[in-house]
Amino acid sequence: MTAAEELAQIAAEVNVCTQCKLHRGTIKAVPGEGPATAKIMFIGEAPGFNEDRQGRPFVGASGQFLSELLALAGLRRQDVFIANVVKHRPPNNRDPEPDEIAACGLFLERQINVIDPRVIVTLGRFSMAKWFPNERITRIHGQPRWVGERLIVPMMHPAAALHQPQNRPLLEADFQRLPDILAQAEREYAKRAAAAPPPVAAAPSTPDEPELEQLSMF
Ligand code: URA
Repeated sequence: MTAAEELAQIAAEVNVCTQCKLHRGTIKAVPGEGPATAKIMFIGEAPGFNEDRQGRPFVGASGQFLSELLALAGLRRQDVFIANVVKHRPPNNRDPEPDEIAACGLFLERQINVIDPRVIVTLGRFSMAKWFPNERITRIHGQPRWVGERLIVPMMHPAAALHQPQNRPLLEADFQRLPDILAQAEREYAKRAAAAPPPVAAAPSTPDEPELEQLSMF
């Protein structure tokens, strides 16, 4: 399966998922969208009213603002992957609950593994908590941290700036730093790839060691 096919497979599973109570009363699941080759992934909280109707992430007011923020970072929506911590809309847009986050977490994990982005931007405290459960967004927003092979960048949720306009300049400044952060991640990736030992060529099997015999050793 190609990476794009794997993403499509995950989306198909999300669309029929009933593993937690969230699917009840919703119109559409919102698996997430973007190319399998995206170098950067944005993870929000949960679908809202408009997302539930369209089955697409960030298509309401927060989404409009997210598109503006992406443009500030020189990014196009179609080049990034956008997902959420939970993939069905919580009733009345309440906070997602731990069992719901855990159920959807398996899908999110699979999406991250398939896309393998260099940079993950968490939008809001619920996605931040996946990597930094004991942190406060007001303290660490905009500060990239390495987690394994990736840079994780916690950011405020776009809705936080829509509700409290004093947050807007902070969020805009954080997005404007993304090109540098992405370049830093790319440089580190190239450095690690160059330092990695070359792949070992498979040893040819010799006629006096039949393959079946080799296999039977395991
Ligand atoms: N807010 C989110 O966190 N995700 C969406 O998809 C829309 C609004």
